[in-house]
Amino acid sequence: MTTQIKVAVVTGSNRGLGLAISRKLSQLGIHVVLTSRNETDGLAAHKQLSSEGLDVNYHLLDVSSNTSVAEFTQWLRQTYGKVDILVNNAGINPTAKPEESSLLTVQPETLQATFNTNVIAVLRISQALIPLMKINNYGRIVNVSTEMASLSTIASDYYPLAPSYRLSKIGVNGLTVLLAKELQGDNILVNAYSPGWMKTDMGGDDAPFTAEEGAETAVYLATLPDGGAQGQFFAEMRKFGGPIQLQW
Ligand SMILES: NC(=O)c1ccc[n+]([C@@H]2O[C@H](COP(=O)([O-])OP(=O)(O)OC[C@H]3O[C@@H](n4cnc5c(N)ncnc54)[C@H](OP(=O)(O)O)[C@@H]3O)[C@@H](O)[C@H]2O)c1
Repeated sequence: MTTQIKVAVVTGSNRGLGLAISRKLSQLGIHVVLTSRNETDGLAAHKQLSSEGLDVNYHLLDVSSNTSVAEFTQWLRQTYGKVDILVNNAGINPTAKPEESSLLTVQPETLQATFNTNVIAVLRISQALIPLMKINNYGRIVNVSTEMASLSTIASDYYPLAPSYRLSKIGVNGLTVLLAKELQGDNILVNAYSPGWMKTDMGGDDAPFTAEEGAETAVYLATLPDGGAQGQFFAEMRKFGGPIQLQW
């Protein structure tokens, strides 16, 4: 592979939005490393995209594990010597639990587990891969968030739903702004976006949009030109026909 070809890592890419983002990036000629915490599921996704004629690779990655992230990072360094794009997609949403309908009943253990996967893991993998971006002074980090975590929206249009999930994604948004500030001048652009309500295992069958539609903004942010948006929050593009920034 020539050094010109961009290498992208998508977390939780065995299904749902992560798989859709991987497919779209790969269709653009970007070399995508699919990752999953379950090897069988990840290899099945790899087989699927390969059968579509896409040139993808696969490696095990549990973003909530220090050991897994360290092993993965070492493999990336040895295999490619760099990373150009990181899409922090892996996430959990414990809304199925009845106590998760209100902040007054949410269990601290659930909150902790949700923060571990949705926030701390995003920081863990970002810390590990940013040095591999700095090698070529190029990086694009896309953090998958949700409009439900927009403090402006909550202030004006509140409905009690998924407090652990929402708080964790508010954490993701904060992480996006802080990381972007720390990386100013490095040509590593860090942004968050809301993919909208999608028909995935998490979103359920009633959702109005597909994971492929939700992937559009991720692709836009993963391929930003130098000097593009930094530390911003974007809406799903299909809703507005183009990139629209959201209020934090
Ligand atoms: N669906 C929606 O309507 C919606 C709306 C707004 C935002 N989002 C966000 O979009 C992202 C993707 O969601 P989705 O709808 O595609 O959900 P999904 O179908 O439930 O997929 C979640 C993915 O994250 C992976 N994952 C969870 N914990 C992980 C870990 N510790 N290490 C590695 N992978 C892990 C899952 O792997 P397993 O298969 O092993 O569980 C799965 O691949 C999430 O960040 C979610 O919060 C979704």
